Amino acid sequence: MNQLPGKLIVFEGVEGCGKTTQSELLSKYFYDNQIDHLLVREPGGTETGEKIRSILLHSEELNGLSELFLLSAARQILISQKVLPALESGKIVISDRFYFSSLSYQGHARGIDQSIIWDISKIAAMQINPDIAFLIDISPAQSFSRKINDKKDRFERESSEFHTAVREGYLSIANSNQNLWRIIQGDKNILDVHEEIIFLLNEKLSLISE
Ligand code: TYD
Repeated sequence: MNQLPGKLIVFEGVEGCGKTTQSELLSKYFYDNQIDHLLVREPGGTETGEKIRSILLHSEELNGLSELFLLSAARQILISQKVLPALESGKIVISDRFYFSSLSYQGHARGIDQSIIWDISKIAAMQINPDIAFLIDISPAQSFSRKINDKKDRFERESSEFHTAVREGYLSIANSNQNLWRIIQGDKNILDVHEEIIFLLNEKLSLISE
């Protein structure tokens, strides 16, 4: 939790789990209920962040550590320019990925020390913590079936072992802090997942008064 008037909601999960769809559905739900909010995505969300995103997805020269530094630069710009001002002004921020992606992808899957990632991520995120985090969990097999091969970026082209490690990373992070995390089975109907998210959100943060 942050000592800020706004609330930060984070969506995480492996490729193709549906977190972008769910972030957008939640944004629409807030819009329909006239709840002031901001939807951002990582990596990206700012002009420079989107350029960094493109490098991350396509440059073959990168390794885990250079990914971490690029991701952290994009994160720091996004937090300082958009997320922190929104939280300070009392808005709800929905973030499609956050530093837990670095812990799972660069940590569990690429093998970078978790404590190094935590230290760098906390600095990049300017000590901001989520108020609730949703892990939309699907198996790597389901994840693989959701994209055409020649449209895949550098991460999506990784092996099934890599994606299994990412998923296991997320599950161990989420299971180690059950106060923060809500794990959702992502193989269900999109609208059922959305309703579950609204229910869990209200249960924890009471954002929507019916
Ligand atoms: P994402 O927006 O989920 O991709 P897509 O729109 O194709 O679903 O994320 C882009 C990629 O960046 C994704 O493969 C995961 C990777 N990533 C990391 O490896 N570490 C991070 O900290 C973040 C935020 C993303």
